[in-house]
Amino acid sequence: MPKIVVMSEKISDIKTDFEIIFVVGKNLDHKFVRSKELLQKMDFEGADESVCLLVEKGEIYVGVEKPDSESFRIASSQAIRAIKNLKIKTAKVALCENLENSRAIIEGLMLASYEFDKYKSKPKKCELENILISTETYSDQVANKNEIEALISYTEIATKYLFIARDLVNTTPNDMTPQTLADEASKIAKDAGVECKIYDEKYLSDQKMGAFYAVGKASTNQPRLIHLSYKPKNAVKKVALVGKGLTYDSGGLSLKPSDYMTTMKADMSGGAAVLAIIAAAKELDLPVEIEAVVGAAENMVSGSSYKPDDVLVAKNGKTIEVKNTDAEGRLVLADCLCFAQELGEFDYIVDLATLTGACVVALGEYTSGVMGFDDGLKHSLIRSAKKSGELASTLPFNRHLKKLIKSEIADVCNISSSRYGGAITAAMFLAEFVEEKNRKKWAHLDIAGPAFVEKSWGSNPFGASGAGVLWVLEWLKELKNVA
Ligand code: BES
Ligand code: ZN
Ligand code: ZN
Repeated sequence: MPKIVVMSEKISDIKTDFEIIFVVGKNLDHKFVRSKELLQKMDFEGADESVCLLVEKGEIYVGVEKPDSESFRIASSQAIRAIKNLKIKTAKVALCENLENSRAIIEGLMLASYEFDKYKSKPKKCELENILISTETYSDQVANKNEIEALISYTEIATKYLFIARDLVNTTPNDMTPQTLADEASKIAKDAGVECKIYDEKYLSDQKMGAFYAVGKASTNQPRLIHLSYKPKNAVKKVALVGKGLTYDSGGLSLKPSDYMTTMKADMSGGAAVLAIIAAAKELDLPVEIEAVVGAAENMVSGSSYKPDDVLVAKNGKTIEVKNTDAEGRLVLADCLCFAQELGEFDYIVDLATLTGACVVALGEYTSGVMGFDDGLKHSLIRSAKKSGELASTLPFNRHLKKLIKSEIADVCNISSSRYGGAITAAMFLAEFVEEKNRKKWAHLDIAGPAFVEKSWGSNPFGASGAGVLWVLEWLKELKNVA
């Protein structure tokens, strides 16, 4: 990642190889726009993702559709994407007048520097070392420089862990098994200084975690339960984070059609996010105690596969009729939620999962779904999503949908009897494993849409986006204000 350095000098007094210039809408008259005639000739105007690279002049113009944080984040990431493979070492850019848009610019610069080249025999090298940012447009230089510096160090840490989550998800499933994920989790925990415990398939069966155990048992790569703890002395809140960590989801015996199976290496995105969040929270010294639980398994086909028609018993004693082995995430999470709630009393319990295709149908591929029983909690999550640059929306429960997961022979069925409302019925299934006293403390985040990017959008490159990481970190950061 290039280093970002704040300067109070005027942008024109800073010497670098390249300059990034924002063009807001049709306005080419801003003093920073130096090649107005050329831009006019090209009919350039500031729209989302519009880019004009003037290599000989050392200038790149990027479009800002309207002067809000979303547009600035997209514009600055477009700029980095366009120049990061040029043979230049330094670039400069001027921030905005207000903190919110400046934050978006800094985030865009950092987020877009991500490359995943683990599987390329000749990786491209990014030579860009420094990005100098000028606070020229600020009135109170000294105060703002400190503010911006604090923002940069926060974003540097958050982005470092976001990239770790992306790397975990992008790593292909032949290299990323439940055991590898557990090993990576131990490394992350050790480096960050949080506790880590790993449990194997025998533990799952001894502990009567029959739902999680059943999902993982077909694979030669057996399941692992990953548990990380961060216990700061000054904690103002206690939070459990639970992540779906399917290192591969073939659908099991209810096999996915080929076209739907590709990208299912990303079915561990919730788990990867949870690992990144707890480690980042520690490095940022957030005053929140966190227990992170990740259910790592591979949903495969073999002679020991669990079957449609099986009845499983979860850790809390509830029985589950399996009607579709592709609805496996909720089975893994059911036991992980039980495990987490046995760790103590929490103020909040939040799970992150690429749980349903139905959530993507409902909200589109850019937006995560937020579900739960408490409006206050859901709205605090929606507010944090917006601040972090992620998109999220609530999906409401109702009594009619709840009836759709009834089973004739067990306590509950793992799929709904209707093809509509699948994101919500999946969440209502999870609710069966949330204790009554914890009902209003629990929120479920379905990140199935944004977790994996097949065509780059916003500041997200192709591949894993790390959805949930910046979002939940922002939410945890705000928790100290409600203490
Ligand atoms: N991992 C999938 C959900 C998913 C779909 C994530 C698309 C990301 C993109 C999940 O395990 C699954 O297969 N869900 C089924 C549930 C169905 C069988 C009730 C689905 O959504 O089709
Ligand atoms: Zn599935
Ligand atoms: Zn799945």
